[in-house]
Amino acid sequence: MTLEARNLVAGYGDKSILEKVSFNLADGEILAFFGHNGAGKSTTLKAVLGLLPAKEGQILLDGERIEHLTVSARLKRGLRLLPEGKGVFPDLNVQDSIEIVSQSNRDPNGAKISADDVYDLLPVLRDRRKTIAGEMSGGQQQMLAFGLALLGSPKCVLLEEPSVGLQPDLVEELFGKMSDICKKLSISAILVEHKIASAMKIADHVMIINSGKLVFNGSKAEAEQINLWNYF
Ligand SMILES: Nc1ncnc2c1ncn2[C@@H]1O[C@H](COP(=O)(O)OP(=O)(O)OP(=O)(O)O)[C@@H](O)[C@H]1O
Ligand SMILES: [Mg+2]
Repeated sequence: MTLEARNLVAGYGDKSILEKVSFNLADGEILAFFGHNGAGKSTTLKAVLGLLPAKEGQILLDGERIEHLTVSARLKRGLRLLPEGKGVFPDLNVQDSIEIVSQSNRDPNGAKISADDVYDLLPVLRDRRKTIAGEMSGGQQQMLAFGLALLGSPKCVLLEEPSVGLQPDLVEELFGKMSDICKKLSISAILVEHKIASAMKIADHVMIINSGKLVFNGSKAEAEQINLWNYF
């Protein structure tokens, strides 16, 4: 398993939001993560990355406990977060953004994904090398944010509503790219989304959270047998 959470409890201050959340994710798998506004999706991602402490429970990456590690130590081990609408440096051009992140994501054992690899995987970024990130369209910015998350040696990317603000055909294109790249490079992903039908197209597993409790956790085939909205 790439990423595993066991009975994870996390929240803000004294208040717990997540109630013993458990899930696991194999290499190259995409886990679609749904739930109502305020259900606890972002809280889960923050706890996995270490932006919030785990009050209880365990988080494992490649079988090793990481819940006691700092955010930067978790990034070094290959966790990546693509925060909603905040994944690029708005004042830097594409090339400089990629350069800076690839420097900071250097892997002493040799990076799995270089700047050139990112340009090959996402050719739109090569065409836009000199464009200031903040001046690109929403779709192009999401491609850049995803490209930046791939630099170095990522194992698991946490994607927070990457479709926000994108027209429907661009959502399909972005998700298609994300899925192809994850499968090709065996990177696993948690995809937090409100655009359920689009996310279902690339999901291997589905998880639904309701008021901090996981109310559904199953394969895509199992999720297709039920009415997902009953769990919201
Ligand atoms: N910084 C914070 N301080 C205190 N409570 C918070 C904070 N952030 C979120 N919460 C609370 O935690 C709960 C879960 O919020 P969370 O952001 O995880 O929801 P979400 O599932 O990501 O929702 P959305 O789909 O709207 O992004 C909500 O009740 C919210 O009010
Ligand atoms: Mg959220």
